[in-house]
Amino acid sequence: MAFNNLLIADTDGLRTITINRPDQLNALNRETIGELDSALTEADADKSVRVLIITGSGMKAFVAGADIKEFAHFSIPEGKALSADGQKKLFDHVERMSKPVIAAVNGFALGGGLELAMSCHFRVASDNARMGLPEVSLGVIPGYGGTQRLARLVGKGKAMEMIMTAGMIKAEEALQWGLVNHVVPQPELLAKCNEVATAIMKNSPTALAAAIRAVNAGYEPGADGMQREIEEFGKCFGTADFKEGTSAFMEKRKAEFKGE
Ligand code: COA
Repeated sequence: MAFNNLLIADTDGLRTITINRPDQLNALNRETIGELDSALTEADADKSVRVLIITGSGMKAFVAGADIKEFAHFSIPEGKALSADGQKKLFDHVERMSKPVIAAVNGFALGGGLELAMSCHFRVASDNARMGLPEVSLGVIPGYGGTQRLARLVGKGKAMEMIMTAGMIKAEEALQWGLVNHVVPQPELLAKCNEVATAIMKNSPTALAAAIRAVNAGYEPGADGMQREIEEFGKCFGTADFKEGTSAFMEKRKAEFKGE
């Protein structure tokens, strides 16, 4: 599928989705959110895709937020629908992807941009990245999961301060806080993501999908994460990947997973 605001590139099982509105610092307008939703659906259905990277085009921004110009004149119902539709279409969709999704944070990740990065399964940042939830400076609050996911990732106190001050933190601080897993010089960002993705791709796709569901269950209100782990663990024993993984271990060879 061709997209107006995204670039898609594939190399050896790794799909890189680049949000491509650099003159608007890759701000998420409704069209881009819809396109990301379609791109994720497409990637999930494509067996050749094993890991995804989401990044922003240019050297300056990952995503500088939801498109302020688009929602500046919204009413209360429109504001509510913006948050609800966005969460369902994009942010929850990213989090629930059955394939690992890495955010390559290449610059500003603000508001909806940080919320998108936080929906990904983990984050790698370039040294020039700046992260924040500046919504209260606009008279609004984070509406794409930011109040929940930031507190889960860095703890309630740090999340409260970051949301209340509307301030930005640098990549190194984000690393200390556990908001990102690695910080590298900008020219090395995609290579670092590629390296981590390559390590992931050696593993069973069915087990990776089960691990994502089990970890996510611990953060779903009302879900019993330990129980989900038991169920997912048990289901693995019926998969071809499990047979292959355990046989390969005993035969002292590398496993060749087919994702079944
Ligand atoms: N929505 C819509 N447009 C945005 C945007 C956003 N979230 N963030 C940046 N842009 C646009 C700017 O309006 C500008 O477009 P223009 O040239 O047509 O006026 C272009 O991107 C470049 O941004 P600019 O502000 O000129 O760059 P800068 O280097 O001076 O500042 C930022 C960079 C990121 C500090 C600044 O753009 C900013 O504060 N953006 C908004 C961040 C925000 O509040 N996000 C949360 C939204 S809920």
